Amino acid sequence: MAKSKPLGMNTRVIHGANKANATSAAAPPIFQTSTFRLDSPEEGAALAAESAPAEFYSRYGTPNTKQVEAMCAELDGAEAALAVGSGMAAITLAIMSNVQKGDHVVAQHTHYTSSLTLLNHTLPQFGVEVTLVDQRDPRNFARAMRPNTRVVYTESPVNPTQVLTDLEAVADIAHAGKALAITDNTFASSFNQQPLALGYDLVVHSATKYLGGHSDIIAGVITGSQKLITRAWDMFIVYGAVLHPFEAWLLRRGLLTYGVRMAAHNANAMAVAKFLEKHPRVERVHYPGLRSHPQHDLAKRQMPGGFSGMLTFELKGGYEAAYRMMGRTKVCTLAVSLGGVETLITHPASMISVHQTEEERKKSGITPSLVRLSVGLEDVEDIVDDLDRAMSGK
Ligand SMILES: Cc1ncc(COP(=O)(O)O)c(C=O)c1O
Repeated sequence: MAKSKPLGMNTRVIHGANKANATSAAAPPIFQTSTFRLDSPEEGAALAAESAPAEFYSRYGTPNTKQVEAMCAELDGAEAALAVGSGMAAITLAIMSNVQKGDHVVAQHTHYTSSLTLLNHTLPQFGVEVTLVDQRDPRNFARAMRPNTRVVYTESPVNPTQVLTDLEAVADIAHAGKALAITDNTFASSFNQQPLALGYDLVVHSATKYLGGHSDIIAGVITGSQKLITRAWDMFIVYGAVLHPFEAWLLRRGLLTYGVRMAAHNANAMAVAKFLEKHPRVERVHYPGLRSHPQHDLAKRQMPGGFSGMLTFELKGGYEAAYRMMGRTKVCTLAVSLGGVETLITHPASMISVHQTEEERKKSGITPSLVRLSVGLEDVEDIVDDLDRAMSGK
């Protein structure tokens, strides 16, 4: 008998949603409860000893979080997933559950700003040393490895500069040093890039962004092996970084349209990037899908699904020009965050990276005129016209 074709990503995610739905409802109920009735003391004792029970106490998990965990595990080709209260909770738990005092972590000069705070301040407070390297060359990671390196942490493309890390090469370097490879896949999205298949051990997402997709929740997800997810869960219940039932339900709803949304984000961003590249007021566009991106070949190799909806560009005229433009857009909404259906425009130097020093910003590649766009799902001509008007001062 012919071997059946593997199911596609959209089918796996949509059907994965019902794997953990014990009810017959097509859209499952919201289990708005803090606790679950136990039928006997024996059942209570058994559940208390279990890892991540679905119906025991809602800090441990709920049927709603189980549903999104099943979907996200399908999406990343992972054995298991853990849904948590924010992207930062996912990042903190993924790293902290794998290090202890005296250990060492290798990460990048540039990361999402709160991740940099975790790496530069929080981990050292707990006696964990961190070395940050230029992500563009995998040899920099190799040179930074020490006998006590336990985690290599990456983000590609990185927020906000769109610089890439060679994920396959870095996973090999981490493993050669007996360290775990963990990456933030928020900017790229699982639709476009599959780090576990490239050798990574854990993937973290801010599910606030593309996974949720509608700018209406704060959520995070970790995916990977059952062993590492159980380790993260053990710390998760201590930190109490809960994803509440309604947020989990909204995340499930967002995930159902993930594939079609991502394909449209990719297409709109490519069109906007091409428009900006030709614009006389634009100095430079940073988008991995453009041939002008210095790592375009790597992007094609490790982002087979597309290049995502995120792009940055630098305006001629420095800080002033970027700042002025921010106040003029009408279709592009001035707001932090990303990955929603609406186009969001941000000025990293003044709005995101204010917790970094001038020197740190410089090292991260955040120039004064850098503008970040999360390209949404509006009609793309309207996004382009809006940007054109705002840059021309009309
Ligand atoms: C790349 C990246 N990772 C992580 C986070 C943190 O996610 P959250 O705000 O859900 O905690 C963000 C937030 O903007 C982000 O852009």
